[in-house]
Amino acid sequence: MRKSRENCQNPQSCSLKKVFRTGDFGIFLNIFLSFTVSNVYAEAVQFADFQDTLPKGYHGSVFHLRQDYPADFPNIPRPWEQIDFKSEPQKYLAFIKQYILQGMAEANYYPAKNNLHDWYHMPMLTTGRRAREAIHGLQRERDVKPFELDPHQSKTQQKWEVAYYNPIGAYQIGKIWKNPKLNGKPDLTQTEFPEGTFVFKWVFVTGDDQQLPILKGAPVFYANIHSQISRKSPKKIQPVRLVQMDFAIRDKRADDTTSWVMGTYVYDKDAPGKTGWDRMVPVGVQWGNDPGITPKDIQHGKKLKETIILPRAPDYAKQRLGWAGRLNGPMDLKGSACLACHSMAQWPHPLNKKPKGNDQQKLKYFRNLKPTEPFQADQISLDYSLQLENALRAYRQQSKR
Ligand code: HEC
Repeated sequence: MRKSRENCQNPQSCSLKKVFRTGDFGIFLNIFLSFTVSNVYAEAVQFADFQDTLPKGYHGSVFHLRQDYPADFPNIPRPWEQIDFKSEPQKYLAFIKQYILQGMAEANYYPAKNNLHDWYHMPMLTTGRRAREAIHGLQRERDVKPFELDPHQSKTQQKWEVAYYNPIGAYQIGKIWKNPKLNGKPDLTQTEFPEGTFVFKWVFVTGDDQQLPILKGAPVFYANIHSQISRKSPKKIQPVRLVQMDFAIRDKRADDTTSWVMGTYVYDKDAPGKTGWDRMVPVGVQWGNDPGITPKDIQHGKKLKETIILPRAPDYAKQRLGWAGRLNGPMDLKGSACLACHSMAQWPHPLNKKPKGNDQQKLKYFRNLKPTEPFQADQISLDYSLQLENALRAYRQQSKR
């Protein structure tokens, strides 16, 4: 039954009831296919949800890794392809946000329980520095140093995030991780994601209104995170607030650059809206790295052609754009950019992601690599997926034990 959700054509009016009322053959075919799907992957390894320990007496919701990846290519509608991200970035970003949040309030912001769209996870990310916590499956990332986000932020804060894949991305994750013959070993011949792959990510941060007044009224998750900044400190259930929401979509309209469209939203406490989610506002969209353009070029009047920043993005986001004004989020590494950092996704030798050297040297980090083109010539490209890179690292670490 879950498989048929994605059949609805019009995201504005999609509902489970409607899907079933149509009663067309496609639905039965889908249900049939979903049987085949589970049979195909029934032989494959089941990955752990998490390896985190919850406090005694906790009875609330816990994270479940959605890993019933479709084994046949899912022919779901891709309504975002009807909007031109280059000429109508505002409309495109508004649509993507609405698509991501559709059905989420009803699912209590557990995307894997969403009744309108199917969302899945990357397996393996249960150990190491980024190990998933047990309530929402958030992974700890780079710390947010004092004053990075706000002039009031006197303390280092923890950054926690979680990403979700649509059925097309999930189809590829299945091919990588669920080959029954490989018994949980990743298939590195399958690392290119198909057109139509859609991934989004929610990025949270610790810190109250005194530390981060810019996040007053932002959406809150309670998560099992470290009680102190040290990753060795005991875990404790604490609130974290949403500061940034990112997406990456594989789209053929970007085939002359990177084949990916990326975009980001940040929380704006002054934006209108009933809930914190309504106050997540778009910052911009990027489909290429604008090769060759340095900050000096921008000072001399050159314009970026593969990033669009919306003029009404909040100041704290505009102050934290990437190198030469390329798209980057306030929670991302300074001096980089979305697609630049992601273009470094490679295996078996992951790289430090910080662009180094003088301007001419830095340009090598801002190239438009094809999905199958690795950052370094003798490596395997992971098609801009840094979460896959981290999952492979976790696999390598866990299989050494
Ligand atoms: C300095 C590097 C860096 C920059 C800059 C960066 N990211 Fe990422 N991003 C990462 C890493 C590392 C991960 C994987 C984290 C994990 O294991 O979940 C990631 C994960 C993601 C994911 C989940 C799927 C995937 O491909 O790994 C999305 C979507 C994403 N980032 C979008 C963005 C967007 C949009 C921007 C710019 C606003 C951005 N990123 C900037 C490093 C970066």
